[in-house]
Amino acid sequence: MSTLLHVRDLSRSYGKVKAVGNLSFEMGKGQVTGFVGPNGAGKTTTMRIIATLDIPDDGDVFVDGKSVLVDPRAVRMRIGYMSDQFHPYPNLDVLQYLDFFARAYGLRGRNRLHTIRSVAAFCGLLEFADRPATGLSKGMGQRLHLAKTLLHDPLLLVLDEPASGLDPRARIEFRALLKELAAAGKGILISSHILPELGETCDSVIVLEKGRRIIAGSIAEIARSVQKDQAVSMRVLERADQAERFLLTQPLVDQVVVEGELLRFQFAGDDAGLAALLQRAVAGGLPVVELSRSATNLEDIFLHTTKGNLQ
Ligand SMILES: Nc1ncnc2c1ncn2[C@@H]1O[C@H](COP(=O)(O)OP(=O)(O)OP(=O)(O)O)[C@@H](O)[C@H]1O
Ligand SMILES: [Mg+2]
Repeated sequence: MSTLLHVRDLSRSYGKVKAVGNLSFEMGKGQVTGFVGPNGAGKTTTMRIIATLDIPDDGDVFVDGKSVLVDPRAVRMRIGYMSDQFHPYPNLDVLQYLDFFARAYGLRGRNRLHTIRSVAAFCGLLEFADRPATGLSKGMGQRLHLAKTLLHDPLLLVLDEPASGLDPRARIEFRALLKELAAAGKGILISSHILPELGETCDSVIVLEKGRRIIAGSIAEIARSVQKDQAVSMRVLERADQAERFLLTQPLVDQVVVEGELLRFQFAGDDAGLAALLQRAVAGGLPVVELSRSATNLEDIFLHTTKGNLQ
């Protein structure tokens, strides 16, 4: 993995509250990482430090090898930070708002005009180009907020709850934009409390609680470590009672529950073991029409790993 973001032994306290304590993690190019944890876990604090808006008490953050402490300007050119609140300036329309930030990032001449229009088009803002930026709906405001974040073509996007307050359609559209950005090779660190959604967008996740890293890794890996026995369901065309008797005699199978033609059970084996089980079932004459592991989702991981301690 070529490292894009390296958070190293980061600590930040506010008075007696240790908002972030000795936090370390890395992210590679093109990786989409979910940043989750209960309210007050330290997500925004960490993201503000990555965005060079706050200084850690201890530790450092490197973006594409540049330190937030030593070379904050270089970091700013490499990251796009979307804070958890959007406060557009009054008296600017959508394009003027983007123009302001494009100038701030040093874009000049035709390149600036071209960039503003293409970013506005990408975010679906062109038809709102001359609307006052303060008069946009929540969803459109978030699109403008994201557009502002993309102007200087940053390598890493740091998005703090970008989908909060969006209606279901706006969320789906926002998710599609993020997928396109990830496909274009951007690294994306995204915090959210909407876990099913993160599960769809992210390849890995970092769970924080009280400023400390509880768990980190790919969602599949964490799911395996959290839940050793996987829930499996088997659907048969008929003869569920025979299927039940079969399962009860199988090694690694536990807690068989029958619901009509559907049988649920816990399976302590790996994929090869499950394939062998299916073979035996079919060889024994059972009309199996479906066999699937129920995926452990992010909500399960969250509830399993955090204790609900707030600070
Ligand atoms: N400027 C500040 N002054 C004092 N305390 C602060 C400040 N910023 C954050 N904190 C405290 O640091 C802790 C971490 O806050 P942070 O905003 O990073 O959490 P979070 O994970 O983003 O939470 P949420 O999910 O609610 O957004 C909290 O206890 C918060 O009250
Ligand atoms: Mg926050």
